[in-house]
Amino acid sequence: MTLHPPEPFRIKMVEPIKLLDRDAREAVIRQANYNLFGLRSEEIFIDLFTDSGTSAMSQTQWAAMLEGDEAYAGARSYFRLAEVIQDIFGFSYFLPTHQGRAAENILSACLVKPGQYIPSNTHFDTGYANISARGGHPVNLVIDEAHNPTLYHPFKGNMDIQKLRDFIKQIGPDRIPFGMITVTNNAGGGQPVSMENLRAVSKTYKEFGIPFFIDACRFAENAYFIKLREPGYVDKTPLEISREMFALADGITMSAKKDGIVNIGGFIAMNDKELFEQARNELILREGFPTYGGLAGRDLDAMAVGLREVLQEDYLAYRIGQTAYLAQRLRELKIPIIEPPGGHAVYVDAGLLLPHIPQEQFPAHALTVELYLEGGIRTVEIGSLGFAHPDPQTGRMVYPKLELVRLALPRRVYTQTHLDYVAEIFSKTVVRRDRIPGYRLIYAPKLMRQFTAQLEPMRVDTPKSEPSLELSVLQV
Ligand code: F0G
Repeated sequence: MTLHPPEPFRIKMVEPIKLLDRDAREAVIRQANYNLFGLRSEEIFIDLFTDSGTSAMSQTQWAAMLEGDEAYAGARSYFRLAEVIQDIFGFSYFLPTHQGRAAENILSACLVKPGQYIPSNTHFDTGYANISARGGHPVNLVIDEAHNPTLYHPFKGNMDIQKLRDFIKQIGPDRIPFGMITVTNNAGGGQPVSMENLRAVSKTYKEFGIPFFIDACRFAENAYFIKLREPGYVDKTPLEISREMFALADGITMSAKKDGIVNIGGFIAMNDKELFEQARNELILREGFPTYGGLAGRDLDAMAVGLREVLQEDYLAYRIGQTAYLAQRLRELKIPIIEPPGGHAVYVDAGLLLPHIPQEQFPAHALTVELYLEGGIRTVEIGSLGFAHPDPQTGRMVYPKLELVRLALPRRVYTQTHLDYVAEIFSKTVVRRDRIPGYRLIYAPKLMRQFTAQLEPMRVDTPKSEPSLELSVLQV
């Protein structure tokens, strides 16, 4: 197998994309108050904002949608999905939901009481928010290696078992209604979790009588990393590895917008009958009848097919290979990235790349704006704009350790040429990096400010000498 296997599909239907000219890009980003969430999709050439709900469905998925059964109760689509979920995940009960956070909301509504604690490797924002909204405390106990961006570790999403044990003993298992782990660890760079670690986490939770839930959004990518990197798994199929992962847990929450390869959908699954009955009541209240969740019958059928396709080995080799390819192109340009790259995205260390921009002027955000201006690429900031927050005691701003820009790859959407283009735009951007301005907030709400913040660029002092190379590159 080559390092970067070619796409195991050919393209039958295309969606045109256009690159606006530089003047137009400058005008629309100014109009959007330098916030990429404010852009229209048609103003973007390559959209690496997220891999969630943005993937391309296969001909088999589209065909399955035509067979969607839209009955309010007992639809055939539900039973087809149930069979697939039973086969891959193996839990006794499941409920469809419209996306991952709906499953998290149901789980939190059923289990979290104010003042309780929920450990994980790193909670994703939505899980974190759903637990917090019920008065609970999400706690991140990822291994220390995860905090070192340049260090190679095959499973940087692993949980620190000693920290977990100490934490449970300190808090007391009675105050921990369930424990979690996220595979792959999105908020920690899309890093995988090893089977050995999953086993140890499961054993620890079991020892203390704590139910164990997996946030399974990118389970297939995680299974494939186990196959590639963990001794003893090279001859197992991603399906076998997935079954082994889920046999260790009491339940999962799933956003099928990732490794279900659908544009909308999710589910929650569990073994506990009482919890299922409680969750079913919550579902009926908020999402819909238990045989459709918040979805149309056709959505369930697309999900059933997508969950099978995502486990195909040629697909996974291409998928992980594509991320590795982009990472390699950026490394060649000496762009600092989180090593090793994860499954669904490459994370660029903008703090290292733009050391002249202090954190209060949002260096990662500055890079996202520049990549748009340079080449119409949309990426997402994971830095001080999204995550700096005032200390509740002192009121002083606490900044995140890293200023990252995430380049998330939608599944089966962009070709290698698109990724070459992204690398080229990076090379044109970094040659003039010392002239990239920081940003000042002109409007920001208190919560989740990155979505609606308005910003303006700070003035950058012109460097003393202007190398002609930079000018010629700028004029290309
Ligand atoms: N868990 C993880 C690990 C996620 O990455 C996401 C979404 C969710 C839960 C929530 O799922 O969006 O279907 O409600 N992540 C997206 C992203 C938004 O861009 O990484 P959802």
